[in-house]
Amino acid sequence: MKIGVPKEIKNNESRVGMTPAGVFELTKNKHIVFIQSSAGEGSGFFDEDYLNVGAIILQTIEEVYMLSDMIVKVKEPVAEEYPLIKPNQVLFTYFHFASSEELTFAMLKSDAICIAYETVEDKDGSLPLLTPMSEVAGRMAIQQGAKYLEKPIKGRGVLLGGVPGVPPGRVLILGAGVVGVQAAKMAAGLGAHVTVLDTNMKRLRYVNDVMPPHVVTEFSSEYNIRKHIKDHDLIVGGVLIKGSKAPKLITREMLKEMRPGTVIVDVAVDQGGCFETTVPTTHEDPTYIIDDVIHYCVANMPGAVPYTSTLALTNATLPYALQLANKGWKQACKDNEELRLGLNVVEGKVVYKGVSDAFGLPYNDVNEVL
Ligand SMILES: NC(=O)c1ccc[n+]([C@@H]2O[C@H](COP(=O)([O-])OP(=O)(O)OC[C@H]3O[C@@H](n4cnc5c(N)ncnc54)[C@H](O)[C@@H]3O)[C@@H](O)[C@H]2O)c1
Repeated sequence: MKIGVPKEIKNNESRVGMTPAGVFELTKNKHIVFIQSSAGEGSGFFDEDYLNVGAIILQTIEEVYMLSDMIVKVKEPVAEEYPLIKPNQVLFTYFHFASSEELTFAMLKSDAICIAYETVEDKDGSLPLLTPMSEVAGRMAIQQGAKYLEKPIKGRGVLLGGVPGVPPGRVLILGAGVVGVQAAKMAAGLGAHVTVLDTNMKRLRYVNDVMPPHVVTEFSSEYNIRKHIKDHDLIVGGVLIKGSKAPKLITREMLKEMRPGTVIVDVAVDQGGCFETTVPTTHEDPTYIIDDVIHYCVANMPGAVPYTSTLALTNATLPYALQLANKGWKQACKDNEELRLGLNVVEGKVVYKGVSDAFGLPYNDVNEVL
């Protein structure tokens, strides 16, 4: 198969869909891989690195789309890419269709085969191609929170780890899922006192089992949240109710209960946020202050650390890309249910219920297109 990796052109996106290690595996399996010149630079991979493992470097994005049977990338195609997509071309990337009617209609019109990273699903219901980005965001939440706690950027002026003779800072984490556990691990590593809240007792048991004793768990209730926000320095929101908007666990009125300079990081901003005062921000201007509480609400946190994020993402996507290349998309999706669940739009038809529901479009059973 001919596989193309274009350079991401979405604003501020430095990740790339495939690393030289991925190209190595694909060329070993006798596939041809086209990389757009400089596509990997933002993630620390240069044209020469790709050439050394057998890739063909193409100068323009037009050539990459024109010559490839399958495109592997990171973000959904942007408007400039729509006319480049060919009928029957396989697109393997994040799409988040339900949040964009324009993208959905463009992909329906293109007659391409759109396999969305975000809906590939394991048998246990977890999302293997979303997990790595939650891991990055969870860990980053503490790094960013620690920074914004510094006084020159209006934080409380607290060092999370404390020093001998001075108690450590206190971190409250809402949600003990992927984001929450990774955040807890980082905060605990810095020596902070950590409180983790969740409504799922299984998750709390897990945290209690694997974390050191200065990470304590409590059931998530409004009572407990109100109690803890008064004396925690950094609050991380990492809750998710699958398929729904995040619940508003911290209201505007509750901000007054916090100490001035408290930092709140809403990782769940992409699902509407779990703080009432959350407004999505960008890496250029990541924070704003309401009632002396610093809000950090960046919707694509992993984008700031492309070296790490590209590796984390491609470690997870490569095994699926290999199956698609080796067997062709139809056979690969027939053989692998996880991958089949990634099919969203196929040759002009919506085959994923969530997408048809979002825009009132006719839904087609995925087996009809296989
Ligand atoms: N901002 C970013 O850049 C970024 C990056 C990655 C993920 N995310 C988002 O972070 C959020 C969390 O992702 P995840 O992978 O950790 O999800 P997850 O499903 O692994 O964990 C969510 C946890 O929230 C818990 N929860 C639900 N309701 C709760 C409540 N009322 N109180 C406390 N806990 C509650 C669930 O029981 C679950 O354990 C998602 O919205 C995800 O899209 C954002």
